[in-house]
This record gives sequence, C-alpha cells and structure tokens, in this order.
Amino acid sequence: MKYDSLPHLTLPRIGFGTWKIGGGSFADPKTDSVSMRALHTAIETGYTHFDTAEMYANGHSEELLGRAVRESQVRREAFFITTKVTPSHLRYDDVLSACENSLRRLQMDTIDLYLIHWPGAGAKYEDTFRALNKLVRDGKVKHLGVSNFNLKQLKQSQELSETPIITNQVPYSLSDRSYVKNGMLEYCQRYDIFLTAYSPIEEGNLKKSRALENIAKAHDATTYQIALAWVISQPRVITIPMSANPQHIRENFEAADIELTQTEIEQLNNA
Ligand SMILES: NC(=O)c1ccc[n+]([C@@H]2O[C@H](COP(=O)([O-])OP(=O)(O)OC[C@H]3O[C@@H](n4cnc5c(N)ncnc54)[C@H](OP(=O)(O)O)[C@@H]3O)[C@@H](O)[C@H]2O)c1
Repeated sequence: MKYDSLPHLTLPRIGFGTWKIGGGSFADPKTDSVSMRALHTAIETGYTHFDTAEMYANGHSEELLGRAVRESQVRREAFFITTKVTPSHLRYDDVLSACENSLRRLQMDTIDLYLIHWPGAGAKYEDTFRALNKLVRDGKVKHLGVSNFNLKQLKQSQELSETPIITNQVPYSLSDRSYVKNGMLEYCQRYDIFLTAYSPIEEGNLKKSRALENIAKAHDATTYQIALAWVISQPRVITIPMSANPQHIRENFEAADIELTQTEIEQLNNA
C-alpha cells in the first residue's frame, strides 16, 4: 500500500467505499451476508480506511461496518473510519444528534473523520461548524472534512473550522475530471487537503480507451487497477473504491503497488 501525508495525518492511498453495503437508499438485510463477506475480505486484505455515511442504507451500512470491525481481530485504533452527516441535518442540534446516532450504529467512541456529505440548501454553516467544532473538542470526532463542496464553500469551511479541513471528497476518475478543471485539485495540493476521489472506477462502468487497455496489458493488470493507479499517482489524491466481490476487493488494494511511468500517466491524461 502507498500512503500520503498531510502535516499531521497519514492515510492509505486506497480505502474502501461502502455505498451499497447494507442496501441502497434503504436498509436491505437480505444482502447482509454479501455485505459482511465484503467487509471481512476488505479487512483481511489490509484496508484500514473505510468510508460510510448515515445516509447509506439508512444507517445500516454504519451498523455493518461497526460489526465487521468488532468481529475482526484488528484493534479499533488501526482503522480510520470516515462517516458523513446528511444535508438535512446541518443545524446545530441536528449535527450533534446525527453524530451520536452514527457513533451508536458504529458502536464506536470516536469517528476519525466526519464530513458534511453535500452542501445543504440554505445551510447556515456558522451553526453547522459550531456543532462540528464542539464534536472535535469533546473527542467524538478527530478530523473534519467536506464532500461535494465547491471552492467557495471549502474556503468558508476552512474559516469556520477550528481544526484543519483535511479533505474534500468529490467524484474523480479518468472520465470525470471536473474537479481538476474547476481548480479544486490544485487548491487541495497547495493547502495540504486530501482530495478523496469517489466513484474512481466510474461506478463499475469504466470507459476503456486504447491507451488504458495497452497500459493494463503492459503491467499484467486489469483496466480497473490502472484506473485506480492513475487516480492515486497525483499528489494529495486518495481514493475509496467500493466492491462486494472478493477478487475485485483484493485487486483494487493491489492497484496501489502499480508504478505507472510518466509517459503512461501522460497517455492516460490525454486518452
Ligand atoms: N461523498 C459522496 O457524495 C459519494 C458519492 C458516491 C460515492 N461515494 C463513496 O465512494 C465510494 C466509491 O464510489 P462508488 O461506489 O460510487 O463507485 P466505484 O467505486 O467507482 O465503483 C463501484 C462499482 O465498481 C465495481 N467494481 C469495483 N472494483 C472493480 C474491479 N476491480 N473490477 C470491476 N468492477 C469493479 C463494483 O462492482 P462489484 O461489487 O461487482 O465489484 C461496483 O459496482 C462509495 O462506495 C462511497 O463510499 C461518496
């Protein structure tokens, strides 16, 4: 595994996403055995950063993740758990209760990274951050971040947060470079913020250019692995692919070991 560091925090370049673990927009307990197998495989493979949200499977994703961590032989401190507060819970009291509910479902004392999942229509971020700052001071949350924020919203968050905003989680893949074009990646690189790339393999529908196919062949790797290797070849970019398939889970983890040449990176940049 490769790692990237901010001044006071080091994270693995590839973590594990959990959208669809436990269900979609609603809990779907019928899929629990597949979800638990995926989480156990991920832990056994060596993933330590897990990304969930109160919104995923209406909280059931957090419940299953917490269960998998407890059932593993790995100590809690070895994990880095990210979860997110939904845009409808951004008022002061709602943030505090959303966090308590996430901690209860995870059955954990602390969340390593707590994100605002999406900007909220009409949200008063002064109120939101008053609550988020309290959660950090009270030790319920270690780090704060945002997701799907534009530059203006990110800068406002940095002003309101008493601790550094450590990430903006946004879509980023070979086919979706909107957060490069809008200046977000450059800003994150300049100010020591991780850009956490979500949907890095385009929700499983990876577009396969000739260059991608050729580079995969040259590395004896899959196109999905090369797509992940490209995403994390850039400074300050970490990612969180999701899979319920044990082979894919292992392949995605191993993608961190692929060393792309500068020429290959340029070919993929231009594909
Ligand atoms: N902050 C936000 O608003 C936001 C939005 C979206 C996602 N996210 C986070 O980011 C995570 C990842 O994004 P995502 O789930 O949207 O998309 P993704 O990781 O790009 O793609 C997941 C899909 O790709 C397939 N897949 C995974 N590895 C593969 C491989 N090696 N070969 C072939 N197919 C593979 C999976 O199917 P199999 O199960 O069959 O492998 C799954 O259907 C989410 O789980 C979530 O934690 C955050």
